[in-house]
Amino acid sequence: MKGSDFGQDFLWGVAIAAQQNEGAYNVDARGLSIWDVFSRRQGKIKNGDKPSHACDFYFRYKDDILLAKALGFKVFRFSISWSRILPEGTGRINKAGVAFYHKIIDECLELGMIPFVTLYHWDLPYELEKEGGWTSHLMLKWFSRYVTVCMNEYGDKVKNWLVLNEPMGFTTLGYMIGKHAPGRIGLENFLPAVHNAALAQAEGGRIIRAEVKDAYIGTCFSCSEVMPYTEKEVDVLAAKRMDLLLNRLFIEPSLGMGYPHEDGFALTDKIHLHNKAWKYTERMKFDFDFIGIQNYFALTVKHNPLIPYIQATEVSAIKRKVPHTSFGWEINADSFYRMIKRFNDYDGVKEIIISEGGAYFKDHLVNGVINDADRIQYFQEYLEAMLKAKNEGINIKGYFAWTLMDNFEWAEGYKARFGLVHVDFKTQLRTIKNSGYWFRKMLSQ
Ligand code: NOJ
Repeated sequence: MKGSDFGQDFLWGVAIAAQQNEGAYNVDARGLSIWDVFSRRQGKIKNGDKPSHACDFYFRYKDDILLAKALGFKVFRFSISWSRILPEGTGRINKAGVAFYHKIIDECLELGMIPFVTLYHWDLPYELEKEGGWTSHLMLKWFSRYVTVCMNEYGDKVKNWLVLNEPMGFTTLGYMIGKHAPGRIGLENFLPAVHNAALAQAEGGRIIRAEVKDAYIGTCFSCSEVMPYTEKEVDVLAAKRMDLLLNRLFIEPSLGMGYPHEDGFALTDKIHLHNKAWKYTERMKFDFDFIGIQNYFALTVKHNPLIPYIQATEVSAIKRKVPHTSFGWEINADSFYRMIKRFNDYDGVKEIIISEGGAYFKDHLVNGVINDADRIQYFQEYLEAMLKAKNEGINIKGYFAWTLMDNFEWAEGYKARFGLVHVDFKTQLRTIKNSGYWFRKMLSQ
């Protein structure tokens, strides 16, 4: 496989996110985010890790962007920390924070890299969480202001925008299960959070369209094929419910289809009724130029009446003895291929970017070398699957590897390493892994 097999215009990139990389959590008048505060709560993050310093990208951005370029990538996807530019989430603008993203953007442009900017990658300003965060009906107003500030500041230089990163992820983990910040639990949080995210997703798109000439606008969806453990009807239905939640909840409203519905799945009726969703079909819709797809695992589930609403539990890849990453996430490139096709089949999807893809494997640094053969094989298989879909005519415009360097992996802390570049979090020394060199070679051919 060679980079040129994908065509000269194919957008090869690396993706990072503010909270996971920047550190400098209290530098230059940045406001706290929900993750800064959540990580102080005991037992929430593995090993008590905190994102306070992360990879120190705030101070090392020049070298890191250069590194991405040296590995052969042309796109640099990063996110803006909302609380860096609006410390209270709304109201006053923090000039130093604004300046930081100008520096990143300018650095990319000077190096001939294309900036792709995510507006929301899970780091809500803590001041807004105090007012209800994603559950508040004011969210739309706050988010609109934030997006408008970003467009006014950066719209002349940045044309490629991603509105939300994986809304299913941050609403479910943050507002239903409580595993992620802000750590809220229960339907009373989840239902309004979903709706406000679905509205913000579309509203963000509209604001960018109105403010930025020639913008290329997308948003990112996580997706995972869900298979039933047996052919039994209860398992098949469990898989359908899980599929609705994981794969349909946010893309369908964005396409003007309203929220998805499955008979007998009370959760969907609740989302609908609680939010009087029938009134909002038009407002949740936006004509995105592209969608970002992020596929990290395939899932097999079986019926489990003890799990509220979804009544499904995963039968792990480890138990099923199928290939998996160090997270236990099933590796299945054919399933990735099928998910690309499936998302492409929706009416209204125009172009697709694989806006993240990558894997956590335990790395071993031996004499300055990390021979991460598992990760190389993973990329090889997934990129081949993507190429197959592309060659069949699916409009796939780019692939962004997750991630440039090891970083703060949310509730899993620093141990779960996804980078093409190893980071020693004590010294901040970067060491290119063999997977990084593999990309460089593949992209040069
Ligand atoms: C998707 C998220 O966008 C990213 O922040 C995270 O690190 C990766 N998944 C890996 O879990």
